[in-house]
Amino acid sequence: MRTFDDLVTEAEAAPVEGWDFSWFEGRATEERPSWGYARAMGERLGQVGAALDVQTGGGEVLASAPVLPRLAVATEGWAPNVAKAAALLHPRGVVVVASPEDAPLPFADGVFDLVTSRHPVTPHFGEIARVLRSGGTYFAQHVGPASVFEVVEYFLGEQPADVRGARDPEGERRAAEAAGLDVVSLRAERLRMEFHDIGAVVHFLRKVVWMVPGFTVDAYRPRLRELHERIQEEGPFVAHSTRHLFDARKR
Ligand SMILES: C[S@@+](CC[C@H](N)C(=O)[O-])C[C@H]1O[C@@H](n2cnc3c(N)ncnc32)[C@H](O)[C@@H]1O
Repeated sequence: MRTFDDLVTEAEAAPVEGWDFSWFEGRATEERPSWGYARAMGERLGQVGAALDVQTGGGEVLASAPVLPRLAVATEGWAPNVAKAAALLHPRGVVVVASPEDAPLPFADGVFDLVTSRHPVTPHFGEIARVLRSGGTYFAQHVGPASVFEVVEYFLGEQPADVRGARDPEGERRAAEAAGLDVVSLRAERLRMEFHDIGAVVHFLRKVVWMVPGFTVDAYRPRLRELHERIQEEGPFVAHSTRHLFDARKR
C-alpha cells in the first residue's frame, strides 16, 4: 500500500492544465450524465453553419466532434488553456479567441447558429443571447448546485444555504428566459463519484481550483492525512456531482 507522502507528492507534481481527466484512471471515478453531452453536441455541430464554444478549456470536448461547421470559434480565458486549445483546435480549422471569462463576448450581434459550453464558470446568458441569431440554439451542460460538496465541506465545513443553492437550474432557467432565450428542455442529474486514494483528492482540488479556494497540501495537511487514513480503513470517499443540460432557443 502506498504511503500518504508518496501519494501526495506525486499528485502535487502532476500538471493540471487542460481538461482531460485521464490522470484519474483507476484512482477516481465519476458517473457520467445519461444524456451524453459530447455526442449530442457533436450531432448539433454537424447541422449548423456557424458555432461558438464558450470557455472551451483545453478544447478537448469540442475536438471530439466528428464534424465541425464551416465557421467554428472557441473562447477561452485562462492562458495555459488558450495555448492548449489552440494547438488542438487550429488543425481542425477552429479559431481560438483569448477572452476573459467575465468579459463581453468579442463578436457582433446575431452571428452564431449555435453556442455550446460545458461547465462554464458562469453562464453569461445576456452575452450568449446577444451573439445568437434569432432561432439559434444554446446547448450546454452546466455544473449544478452543491456539486461535489462532500469534498468541499470536508475541508471548508458546512456551507451556508446561499452557497449550497447557487447554480440552481430553475434560477438559471429564469435568467436565460429574462435574457431572451426560450428553454426548450432542462434536465438535471446527481451522479456518484469515488476517490480511491488521497492523491486523487489532491489532484482534483489542484485542478478544480474553485472547489476549495487557495487549496494547497501544506494548508490542509492534517485534514488530508485524516482522510487518507479513513479511505484506507473504510474504502473510497464517495461524493456526488450535479449537472444539468440546457437546450434553449433565442427568441
Ligand atoms: C470548468 S472549465 C470547463 C472547460 C471545458 N468547457 C470543458 O468542459 O472541458 C471552465 C473554465 O475554467 C477555466 N479554468 C480551468 N482551470 C482554471 C484555473 N486553474 N484558473 C482559472 N481558470 C481555470 C477553464 O480554462 C475554462 O475556461
